[in-house]
This record gives sequence, C-alpha cells and structure tokens, in this order.
Amino acid sequence: MVEVIEWKGDHVSMLDQRRLPVEVTYVECRNYLDVAYGIKELKVRGAPAIGIAAAMGVALGARDITTDNYDTFLQGIEDICAQLATTRPTAVNLFWGLERMKRVAAASRSLGVEKAKQVLYEESQRVKEEDIAINKAMGRYGARFVKDGYSILTHCNAGALATGGYGTALGVIRAAVDEGKKIKVYADETRPVLQGARLTAWELTEDNIDVTLITDNMAGYVMKKGMVHMAVVGADRITKRGDVANKIGTYSVAILCKEHGLPFYVAAPLSTIDFSLESGDDIPIEERDSEEITCVFGKAQIAPVDVKTFNPAFDVTPARYVTAIITEKGAFRPEDLYLLHDGTPEQIEAARIKD
Ligand code: MRU
Repeated sequence: MVEVIEWKGDHVSMLDQRRLPVEVTYVECRNYLDVAYGIKELKVRGAPAIGIAAAMGVALGARDITTDNYDTFLQGIEDICAQLATTRPTAVNLFWGLERMKRVAAASRSLGVEKAKQVLYEESQRVKEEDIAINKAMGRYGARFVKDGYSILTHCNAGALATGGYGTALGVIRAAVDEGKKIKVYADETRPVLQGARLTAWELTEDNIDVTLITDNMAGYVMKKGMVHMAVVGADRITKRGDVANKIGTYSVAILCKEHGLPFYVAAPLSTIDFSLESGDDIPIEERDSEEITCVFGKAQIAPVDVKTFNPAFDVTPARYVTAIITEKGAFRPEDLYLLHDGTPEQIEAARIKD
C-alpha cells in the first residue's frame, strides 16, 4: 500500500489525497505551516492520519525554533500547536496528537533544546508506527463479527489512506480477508468529497478486495434487497457514552441498519474517544465551503453558483444505533465504553464482547 505520510530526510512527504485515484503524487512539507495547509485542504485526511500529520508538523516546527532557552522553546511549541489546532475541528485525534507532542516537549527539558528536537522527531515516528499496530489489533477483534461470505457496507474512507496503514473499518475487513473469509464490500461514494469513490474503492481494488461502488442514496435499496449483512465505519470523535461523529451520511447508514435489522459497527482507536464529552451534541462539527457541493472538484458546476448551501462535513450517530465499538482493547457496547476510562481491568475484561 502507498505511504500516506512519512519523513523523507529533512521534510515530511504527504500523499496528496485530493488527486486520488487519478494521480499518486506527494507534496513536500518543509515546515509546519505546509502540514497545517495539507490538513486543512484534505491532502491528508482521516482522523488517525490527521493525528500523525499533526505530530510530524510539531516535530518539523520544533526544528525551526532558534533558541537555547527551554521556556522560549516550549512557548514556540505552544504557538505551533495553536496554529495546527485551527485546521479541522471534529477529529479529536488532531488535538490528541498535539497534546502528546506538548507533553513530550515538556518532559524533555533536562535534555536541552537540540536533543528535545530529536526526541520530538522520534515521537512523531512512534505515533505512526503505533497506529499501524493498533489498527492490526483492532482488525483482529473486529474480524470476529465478520462471517465467511458476508457483504459489508462502509461509508467514507477509514482505510490505510486514513491512518498510518491498514485502516480501522477497512482494517476489520482486511483482517477478515486475511483469515481466509470471502468478503464483498459495498462502498458508499460519500458525497460531497467522494472519499468512498476516490479512496475506498481505490485502495480495496489495489488490494484485490471485492468492492462494489454505490452512491449514498442506494444504501437503503441494497439493504432492503438483502445484499448487505453488516456495516462498519470509522469515527472522528466518540463520546464517553458512545455517540459517534463520523463523515456526513453515517447517521443515515446507522438508521438504515436499524430498520433492516443489520449490525452497525464502529472501528476506532482509543485516541478517537473523547472521554471529556458525554453527549454527541457537544462535538464541534466542521462546515466546509459551499463549492464542495455546487462544483465537482472545482471543475464541473452542478448547481447555481449563488445557491444557498449547507455543508456539514460530519454527523453524529447516537449510541443507541451502534452495535459495538471496536478498539485495540477489544469490542465494547457503547454503554460500556466509559469503562475504558473509569473501569478496573476486571470490569473492562467483563465488558469486552467475546464473540
Ligand atoms: O473529511 P475526512 O475525509 O477527514 O473524514 C474522514 C472520516 O470521516 C473517516 O471515516 C474517519 O476519520 C475515520 S478514518 C479511520
């Protein structure tokens, strides 16, 4: 699979996902502002990949701070993090990545500025490596819910392209395929940015996984026809009680699953769970430019230029529609999720869904 984001010598190389599937091209991020721009413009996207990009952005920015004074250095790191934090509001992994880097910077004081820069670089590498391992663990837990011969619907792209590698929702599918199960995937195209059509359909095709692309408004029909056995999606932010923010349209998929008696799974790492929030109503939802709706990729105008639009990039699926949340620590019913924060190891073990 292609690399989504990686260090290449003195810069960060970022796959430009806006250009997929037509072109596989990379942009060179030479400073943290290049990384911030890449996140804002969706060159890199998907909650875990945004977290990794943020960590690499901080390491890049740290390198350019010229001071011997550690307090000045830490203030510089604060300023860089504040800039990166303005890029996208919904995926909590962005803020998780920034906080992690700030903590490491604060803890490296005794090393001095120059060594701390190296430590931050290494930490950003670690964020990516850990993410791949986490996705594989999640995949193993999630694959238990996938029976041989299943057809699975997914929305947006929660695959290798949205993470350090392997994917969350698509990681579950990959793990099931790796176990030798015969799986068919239905990918919603995911208007308006088409992550399903451009990214999910592309990465599954590259991996020889059987994928059928449908438009978003076909999901109900394929379920009604009995063509789908379950849905699995990723998440941008999950609250303590299990409400799930994910790409716009996810809520509709969850309701359709309920109506058709199909399980609706969410696969996400612990870094996507925001234990500080109870209710999904408190998750900030990004609103993007009207052009995304009125014009296909700045090319074909498909609506009057001045028409009023509303373009929320995410929606929130209430916990009652979620069958289970699959994490690297196992799968849990949404009502048990809080235990991962507040519970004892015994309580967590008891709550983990066994099959
Ligand atoms: O706007 P995007 O492309 O960043 O939105 C991505 C999603 O909604 C994904 O489903 C989510 O981040 C999970 S990625 C593993």
